Amino acid sequence: GGVAVAGTSSATSSAVAAQPTGSLTILVGSQTGNAKGVAESVKAQAEARGIPVSLVAMNDYKPKQLKKETHVLIVTSTYGEGEPPEAAADLHAQLKGGKIGKLFGLQFAVLGLGDSSYEFFCQTAKDFDAFFEKAEATRLQDAAILDVDYRAAADAWAASFLDKLAATLTAAPAVAAVAGSAVIAAGHSAYDKFNPFTATLSTNQKITGRDSTKDIRHFEINLEGSGITYQPGDALGIWFDNDAAVVAEILALTGLTGDEQVTVSGKAAALSDALTNQFELTRLHAAFITGLAEISADDKLKALAADKDETRKFAANAQIVDVLKRFPTKLTAEQLVGLLRALSPRLYSIASAQSEVEEEVHLTVGVVRYPQEDGSVRSGGASSFLADRVQEGGEVRVFVEHNDSFRLPADSNTPVIMVGPGTGIAPFRSFIQERDAQGAEGKNWLFFGNPHFTQDFLYQVEWQKYVKSGLLTKIDLAFSRDQANKIYVQDKLKAKGAEVWQWLQEGAHFYVCGDANRMAKDVHDALVNIVVEHGGKNAEQAEEYVNELRRAKRYQRDVY
Ligand code: 2AM
Repeated sequence: GGVAVAGTSSATSSAVAAQPTGSLTILVGSQTGNAKGVAESVKAQAEARGIPVSLVAMNDYKPKQLKKETHVLIVTSTYGEGEPPEAAADLHAQLKGGKIGKLFGLQFAVLGLGDSSYEFFCQTAKDFDAFFEKAEATRLQDAAILDVDYRAAADAWAASFLDKLAATLTAAPAVAAVAGSAVIAAGHSAYDKFNPFTATLSTNQKITGRDSTKDIRHFEINLEGSGITYQPGDALGIWFDNDAAVVAEILALTGLTGDEQVTVSGKAAALSDALTNQFELTRLHAAFITGLAEISADDKLKALAADKDETRKFAANAQIVDVLKRFPTKLTAEQLVGLLRALSPRLYSIASAQSEVEEEVHLTVGVVRYPQEDGSVRSGGASSFLADRVQEGGEVRVFVEHNDSFRLPADSNTPVIMVGPGTGIAPFRSFIQERDAQGAEGKNWLFFGNPHFTQDFLYQVEWQKYVKSGLLTKIDLAFSRDQANKIYVQDKLKAKGAEVWQWLQEGAHFYVCGDANRMAKDVHDALVNIVVEHGGKNAEQAEEYVNELRRAKRYQRDVY
């Protein structure tokens, strides 16, 4: 896949920056850590040039502070249907609503990360770019709109951005105020995304019943010797190998043997190895179909590729091998890898606390399997790697992705409400282990849901133990399919609305983890509803109350 460094049009703004001195503030809206990684790298490059620079997570930044900045770089990802990441939500909303006003004299640039398979590619970055333009700030460089293989393009864009920035700063620039904003702590471990630790998988246990519609696994991974530390709320990145059978199928369909030599990021490798551990085979991007159509002579494939909507629809429900099965095409090894994207590790919310499990890390993972019409089954990448392809005792390459946007209250006396249906339960197992170790006095309330009580009550014995010990103050369960009408966690929340409101009045933090597309939206609506019903506010005031909870970090979400 190609990297598009597309431009939004360069503003020849009337507002020429007056200040001869200043400093750079990098505001980062990261969802999975990629934007944060890029921002940290730009910061390091700026420092190397002697440019005064600070890096601030958007959710630690007071939007009004923008008025005092001289130079701002926005680094943000986009998720879902063009929505800002959690960390960017408030700043995005305030700029969108025109709450900050004009930003004459501010110089800005935007670096966006996204995935061009999605319709609203890099929408959040495009939004920020437009907001600043509307506020009459001065664009230092056209926005970077970067695809999943962003690394080289981000470096090139940053180098040119820093050239322009340096030219606007004097030799002895003043240090701009960043008071009131928490600066991201460096906190580097020896291992990260591109330098993972080779751990061992010690436990692989199915925790849904035999008759469940889902295959959810509890994995335990041994981190001994790594020195890796993590906190409740963090995620674990997993690098994985693709399924050998799928690699073989792709080779057969393209007329290749696998012994062909290819060069991947400067290193020679046998094609079969590269397909196994360097390229994305399970996530299909639209550009694979359009690229293949350019090589192929198949009219049906060309017709499909010419229709953007159809291509997107096809891509949403298929893998690389499915396209090749439908449109077998003779390719050279170079052509094949030229059409593929680099493999990305998968992130899972950590389900354990080190205060309890020490040098282990636990995960709760739904194994992704798609039954095919012909009776065969296609599997997702990392989940089936962990479930089916690594033996217990086998190796897994991992790294921790810190998530400061999902944290227990600093004061252990603060009550917490946790809403985590399905695998969304994972971080709350971590939370409760930590609260147990802390001897936390604060009340704990869990809302959990899944299809059936007998099949899908994840970690049932553990929750019962915590209820018995008194640590888990309340648990409310929504087994959606155990009765004629679907019951969901948001229904349980609404039914207990008066008490939820009471807990909020007592300062409770409210956490949501799990499905972003439906559940998290419905739970959000339920929360607003509770504030209307029991807090005596109108709809607008209730939204504002919930936004204020978010700003105060008392409403935090880890949704995917
Ligand atoms: P269902 O599949 O029976 O409809 C975990 O996946 C649980 O979340 C399941 O019980 C699932 O119910 C439920 N679920 C599905 N859609 C939901 C929604 N919009 N809000 C809350 N829970 C939902």
